[in-house]
Amino acid sequence: MYVSKPLDKKITLPYLRKLKKQGEKFACLTAYDYSFARLMDKSGVEVVLVGDSLGMVIQGHETTLPVTVEHIEYHGQAVSRGLEKSLLMVDMPFGSLNSQQQALDNASQIVKKTGAQVVKLEGGITQIKTVETLSKYNIPVCAHVGLQPQSVHKMGGYRVQGRDHDSAIEMKDTALQIQEAGADLLLLECVPEALATEITQLLQIPVIGIGAGANCDGQILVLQDLIGITPDRPPSFSKNFMLENDSIETAISAYVTAVKNKTFPAASHCFS
Ligand code: KIV
Repeated sequence: MYVSKPLDKKITLPYLRKLKKQGEKFACLTAYDYSFARLMDKSGVEVVLVGDSLGMVIQGHETTLPVTVEHIEYHGQAVSRGLEKSLLMVDMPFGSLNSQQQALDNASQIVKKTGAQVVKLEGGITQIKTVETLSKYNIPVCAHVGLQPQSVHKMGGYRVQGRDHDSAIEMKDTALQIQEAGADLLLLECVPEALATEITQLLQIPVIGIGAGANCDGQILVLQDLIGITPDRPPSFSKNFMLENDSIETAISAYVTAVKNKTFPAASHCFS
């Protein structure tokens, strides 16, 4: 049984690929400031994401749409100062990818200013060219498919994606095309466990899940959900680790341990 411990080396993309090959799970969390980033780094969280969820959990907006590149850079720089070993991933906010040139300019600036090792972007088939462009210019990309909060108005709410036969086939095909286009990671949000399992097995690149079942290569949660301070009702796929722990540090360590030992997510956190 794995017990959470500090990371013993800097986490890189080849290392995450090695974990996938060995069938070892890795833990990811969102962070928006220096203090939490330090705690996560010390607690063995392999990937720290400066997510555009900051628009909701930090800024108090109803959606992630108002977040700007400048906001992401500000929080990215703070988080970056707190990390020694964890891999830093930073979100491309809504409206930052409206053309290939704009995507390349914004992603380059984000990498330069925050030290991000990977940028994450929402969009399936519509962003294949962007994945190709960033990849060609040596900017590692994590593509985010399934539920995409930046498309909340188009999707008509926050719903599980890929439940019917046709959309499941489409998601598998998109995932393969994203890998082909040069993505280094794929993130699946709110996808039935069976479909997420198939996609994870289909791809060579590591797949990170949130509300996507227990078989993805890595798991991610929004920090506020993990420490039980989500302002509204927390998502059903999340878990408040503070209920069984007496400090934030031990709650984060318990999350890492649970991911590594495959006890989180449990069946109650998964969709069918
Ligand atoms: O912005 C974010 O926090 C995210 C996670 C939900 C994966 O994209």
